[in-house]
Amino acid sequence: MSKPKVLVTRRWPQAVEGKMAQIFDLCLNTSDTPLTEAEFTAALGQYDAILPTVTDSLPAAVFQSTTPRTKILANYGVGFAHIDIAAAKDRGIAVTNTPDVLSECTADIAMTLMLMVARRAGEGERELRDGRWTGWRPTHLIGTKVSGATLGIIGFGRIGQAMAQRAHFGFDMKIVVQNRSAVPAEVLARYNAVQVTAIEDLLPECDFVSLHCPGGAANRHLIDRRRLDLMRPGAFLINTARGEVVDEHALAQALSINTIGGAGLDVFEREPKIPRELLDSDNLVLLPHLGSATRETREAMGYRVMENLSDFFEGRQPRDRVA
Ligand code: DGY
Repeated sequence: MSKPKVLVTRRWPQAVEGKMAQIFDLCLNTSDTPLTEAEFTAALGQYDAILPTVTDSLPAAVFQSTTPRTKILANYGVGFAHIDIAAAKDRGIAVTNTPDVLSECTADIAMTLMLMVARRAGEGERELRDGRWTGWRPTHLIGTKVSGATLGIIGFGRIGQAMAQRAHFGFDMKIVVQNRSAVPAEVLARYNAVQVTAIEDLLPECDFVSLHCPGGAANRHLIDRRRLDLMRPGAFLINTARGEVVDEHALAQALSINTIGGAGLDVFEREPKIPRELLDSDNLVLLPHLGSATRETREAMGYRVMENLSDFFEGRQPRDRVA
């Protein structure tokens, strides 16, 4: 039997590419540049499987003008809002993702941002590198204490819970959560967490708010000017979920007039473009979408895709099927 023809849309860790090449008839994108929509449409007619990732845009139009050979889009990443799931389903194409394996590292990056912005680490490093540090003094770069503070978590799936684990056990933080569905009582009890119904109930209660909900149209600008106004003065917003969840212009304004104390962002609405007004905010820590960027996690994501593909082509239900 011939091997399934598989397109990998970006470079992956070498170890995974090597293993994949033993099992599949693999086409690697050696230039590592994102495919255009026209290239995706063409690829749907040529490959049995396509392995897209967060930088790939697959709107409905991509699926409409082709008779697909592709039977599965095995996404490298947990978020899949960049794929029009209904359109894929309509053409009989299965979709999988890679949950679990990146939860810990993404929560680690959320903690990194929280600590950096609260303790003004970015500002301090910029001062040092610019040669502006004049030495220790009692009033220098005074930040906000993280330990014991209240953390609001919006979206209490695997990554939200990994964040609660770190904040509760590592920093003795009080945890308030908001989630679409009711969180089981034993899960809340594990972190001594309280669930509230609405985001409006959570925001005024918290010193830190960390976003762990999905992206996509349903959550676009979930955090807008009105909700930023509901945050405590001096509170911090952390986003490691998806850029579109936060209205970036409203956030830049809130930061410039100190409606909130600061923010930490790992994701942006139009990556890799960052609005000037965000780059100019001093009370903001910015990272280039590093949530899952450890060797261990990026390899685990690749192996998880491989498992989904093998299951699919060998007639089993892939464990991470989302459509
Ligand atoms: C994902 O998996 O959706 C991330 O954003 C990439 O790590």
